[in-house]
Amino acid sequence: MKTFILGRTKEEVLGLLREKEIKTVALGERKICLTRIGEEYFAFEQNCPHRKANLGQGYINNFQEIICPLHAYRFDLKSGKVSNANCPDLQVFKTQISDNGLKIFI
Ligand code: FES
Repeated sequence: MKTFILGRTKEEVLGLLREKEIKTVALGERKICLTRIGEEYFAFEQNCPHRKANLGQGYINNFQEIICPLHAYRFDLKSGKVSNANCPDLQVFKTQISDNGLKIFI
């Protein structure tokens, strides 16, 4: 497992990511998506496990789910579980916010 750190302070990370905005970041050789709801941060794979649509173009609903832009499958941001379809779950990554930035464990 690798650990990546985004930003240098809590405030900086907060400023990098608006509420429910989805940002795609390159971490090493991999691209992942990040989003924030309140002070909770979520990281997940960029490509939908259904047909590989870019989840960076999806949106976040009020139930802590990412909705795929292609067929509207919904995935829980914490567990990655798909909630309205039959396809593999989304890969999600642990995050940890601290005074030294946002850690993402991949
Ligand atoms: S590609 Fe994401 S739901 Fe079909």
